[in-house]
Amino acid sequence: MTDKLWGGRFTQKAAQWVDQFGASIGFDQQMAQEDLEGSLAHVAMLGQQGIIPAADAATITAGLHQLQTKLAAGELHFTVANEDIHLNMEKLLTDLIGPVAGKLHTARSRNDQVATDFHLWLKHRLPELLTALTDLQTVLVEKAEAHAGTLMPGYTHLQHAQPITYGHYLMAYFEMFQRDYERFSFNQRHTDMLPLGAAALAGTTFPIDREFVAAQLGFDSLYHNSLDAVSDRDFALEFLSNAAILMQHLSRLAEELILWCTYEFNYIEMADSFATGSSIMPQKKNADFAELTRGKTGRVYGALMGLLTTMKSLPLAYNKDMQEDKEPVFDAYTTVLGSVHIFTGMLESLTVHAQKMHDATVNDFSNATELADYLATKGVPFRQAHAIVGELVLKGLQTHTALQDMPLADLQAAAPQIEADVYAELAPEAAVNRRTSLGGTAVANVQREVSRAKAIIADR
Ligand code: ARG
Repeated sequence: MTDKLWGGRFTQKAAQWVDQFGASIGFDQQMAQEDLEGSLAHVAMLGQQGIIPAADAATITAGLHQLQTKLAAGELHFTVANEDIHLNMEKLLTDLIGPVAGKLHTARSRNDQVATDFHLWLKHRLPELLTALTDLQTVLVEKAEAHAGTLMPGYTHLQHAQPITYGHYLMAYFEMFQRDYERFSFNQRHTDMLPLGAAALAGTTFPIDREFVAAQLGFDSLYHNSLDAVSDRDFALEFLSNAAILMQHLSRLAEELILWCTYEFNYIEMADSFATGSSIMPQKKNADFAELTRGKTGRVYGALMGLLTTMKSLPLAYNKDMQEDKEPVFDAYTTVLGSVHIFTGMLESLTVHAQKMHDATVNDFSNATELADYLATKGVPFRQAHAIVGELVLKGLQTHTALQDMPLADLQAAAPQIEADVYAELAPEAAVNRRTSLGGTAVANVQREVSRAKAIIADR
């Protein structure tokens, strides 16, 4: 027998570097609190069900409480020799209360224990992420309200397409983060499930009460198949998938903000607190935090792909491969939470160069659709109107004359249906405000969507 907690059938000790390879204590100590919480619920159940004597349950409970106090004070020391958080805790409890600690593991396996800890870990943390998303959405709504009428070019293919408002643009991201919010809310449902009681894989012969444990730990529901309970990591994959999609949104926003603070665009300027300088070029002000978030997107995608690949082809039930599940989730959580906070502060504090945005909508032919629509309302088939305006644009490009600066006679030469009222329609403000179709960029629409968004947030 070796000195491992599971060492009964072993005669040879592993080398230290082999232990190191197999250990997870380096990272799963992040679940220390959850491990103690799970043990407290389990021992309460063991005592209540008479599976162990009430006095032993009380001794173990007191010991676990002591460990909680020590953990909070930073006085617990974990070692690789004890492999993971579960065995480290058991060893620390044994040091504290003696061999009675060994009764805690009755009707339990590390397989259902680790699954329980991991569920609890995420269950405890999803609310903070949801709150952070609400803060981000709140800033977007506030800024969208303030900029409901701030004109800017709308792009397709990164070419000027049609004028929109900055408020409308921001509300597009509100919608994306709303879907993120809904996805993470749903993620709670599959996270809020108790695996404990599945034991190693097949359930247990002891008269346990899983509903009692679920209630103790505040779980909404419990797993109904012991094999599934110990081998399911869907909740973690759902989290990573949601995190990857959220990072995609942040990364797209990051890309635009980075572009917009260039000399060429100059639509916005980052607050000093969300920018960095260069060690050699004194004039530089870089959008480092937007860039870093864009970069970290790769790491979150990597976490998702990593765990999907780890889980692929794993036979039921538990396999040690699954020890690889925690680091990507821990890392992605820190990354997405940090990124959401950064973007909240960044969007809140950046300066909008409204005049610059507006000017970019004036001489860019982004009112060409207006003229085509104008002709279409005068009875010209849209295809024909498109061709007429295309030729006018070509002429305008050659003579450096915007559509609204062309004399009426020239416009009428191209299409006799054009009258003097066309000029009012060619202004970017008019182009925006005529787009009143549901979801369109008209100022009144944006204001209405802002009210709707506020109600969504207030409803949480
Ligand atoms: N450290 C392990 C993990 O993270 C705990 C479960 C170990 N179970 C086992 N049968 N070896 O997955």
